[in-house]
Amino acid sequence: MNTYFTILLFLVPIFLLLSRTRRYSKRIPPGSLGIPLIGQSLGFLRALHNNTAEKWLEDRIRKYGPVSKLSILGKPTVFIHGQAANKFVFHNNSSILANQQPESFAKILGDRNLMEVSAPDHKRIREALVSFLKPESLKQYIGKADEEVRKHIEIYWKGKQTVTVLPVMKILTFDIICSLLFGFEQGKQRDQFLYSFQEMLNGFWAVPINLPFTQYNRGLRESVRAQKLVKELVHEKRVLLEKKGASPRQDLITFLVSMHDEDGKPVLTDKEIVQNVVLSLLGGYETSATVITFIIRQLANEPTVCAAVLQEQQEIAKSKASGESLTWEDLAKMKYTWRVVMETMRMFPPIFGGFRKALTDIEFDGYLIPKGWQIFWAAPMTHMDSSLFPEPSKFDPNRFEKQASVPPHSLIPFGGGPRMCPGNELARIETLVAIHYLVTRYEWKLCADNLFSRDPMLKPTQGLPIKVWPRELA
Ligand code: HEM
Ligand SMILES: *[C@@H]1O[C@H](CO)[C@@H](O)[C@H](O)[C@H]1NC(C)=O
Ligand SMILES: *[C@@H]1O[C@H](CO)[C@@H](O)[C@H](O)[C@H]1NC(C)=O
Ligand SMILES: *[C@@H]1O[C@H](CO)[C@@H](O)[C@H](O)[C@H]1NC(C)=O
Repeated sequence: MNTYFTILLFLVPIFLLLSRTRRYSKRIPPGSLGIPLIGQSLGFLRALHNNTAEKWLEDRIRKYGPVSKLSILGKPTVFIHGQAANKFVFHNNSSILANQQPESFAKILGDRNLMEVSAPDHKRIREALVSFLKPESLKQYIGKADEEVRKHIEIYWKGKQTVTVLPVMKILTFDIICSLLFGFEQGKQRDQFLYSFQEMLNGFWAVPINLPFTQYNRGLRESVRAQKLVKELVHEKRVLLEKKGASPRQDLITFLVSMHDEDGKPVLTDKEIVQNVVLSLLGGYETSATVITFIIRQLANEPTVCAAVLQEQQEIAKSKASGESLTWEDLAKMKYTWRVVMETMRMFPPIFGGFRKALTDIEFDGYLIPKGWQIFWAAPMTHMDSSLFPEPSKFDPNRFEKQASVPPHSLIPFGGGPRMCPGNELARIETLVAIHYLVTRYEWKLCADNLFSRDPMLKPTQGLPIKVWPRELA
């Protein structure tokens, strides 16, 4: 009797486990999880690197259908795509879906950064950032961006015959963000800071596959350094603010330091300020630089588009006195140029995709996504869908004029929903101001191959060297 009982005691859980997995495996999406830990990460990273990631995903879709499982960055993952999938990923209830980043992100950026926290902390921190980054508030910083672009052209473009666009644009967008958000002046401090951030970015992508280990360690080390620098700035700004020597709106740090709730308690802790300031800089400079770089590339490849942009920008330039800064109203007039920016981000989204995590068992499209699994979204899968964007491989800014509106949940370079990029308005200002001065003052042509890849950030393979000469004014 006793033996029977013991056997039963062992068998019941096994039976339950088996029936549970059987019930699961019926509805879990098709596909394979690959080799333990490594899964499909290497193949996917290689495809990103040799610029065949879209094809890599299309092959999956052909083989397994629209919803499939794979293993990426060491975790079981469900890949979904299309309009409904985007709606599901970006707009579902945050008690079902959490944000999910590769582990290296939290290690390098800290656990209080916006991408790691969930409601209600996410809402609180995000609202603080957005009240600085929203259009009505950014308006007053256009003059600063304008000044940085002109200064930058003097240093890196004037009198030059060739310019390698991407590295130079990274310096520009870095300087704009530093001056707008941190009230930072250029100089030695900038170079150290820029180095730290580049190493942090490199570090992100090193750890998921645990390969170039030293790269990850450099990222960690530089993150400590950058956070220390920002922490010192936080203290400096607080002292200035208390001495009433600073206006809260003079830069992002001062603004966040000055925020208090009704009870007079700080809205953000110092740790949260530091980590989110670092995140904004990190999330903002390389992405924006990439967009400007690819616009320059497209303008060289598409003479008619370039002529139309030039005409629009010259109209605006004519209305300005010499040396007068662009204004919010000027940016609003750049309608065609903005379509060029959107079309560039459609065809060349700087960020390929991202992850969410299922907090409970979730059903999507008839399949089960088990609790704890990752969900993987990829922007090009809707950007290059011919039912949403006819002739998707054609660079055609006018599609945004012809189509009464962009189909919902289909253009997602900034993501969407409550976690949509809060820096999109800043990116718009930087891009339009930079294009205005470059197009009206210079002409250029590409002087190397036209190839690009993702590592996993989008990049022209040689950084986009161009031949430049001053534009003769008609
Ligand atoms: C063209 C330039 C940019 C692109 C393409 C871009 C793209 C993105 C994407 C795809 C996300 C993830 C959305 C998601 O997971 O749903 C994101 C998040 C974020 N971006 Fe940007 N970004 C750009 C510029 C900026 C700038 C200038 C800033 C800084 C002010 C910034 C700060 C952030 C932050 C803080 C988040 C996290 C938001 C959250 O989790 O709530 N980005 N961005
Ligand atoms: C690119 O990477 C994919 C995925 O790893 C691989 O199948 C393909 O052969 C590679 N193509 C080239 C041209 O290297
Ligand atoms: C959110 O997820 C639930 C549960 O899977 C689903 O029924 C609902 O349609 C989803 N909502 C959106 C906006 O996709
Ligand atoms: C999300 O789900 C929670 C718990 O199920 C619920 O209390 C909340 O109202 C939902 N929020 C939205 C926006 O649907």
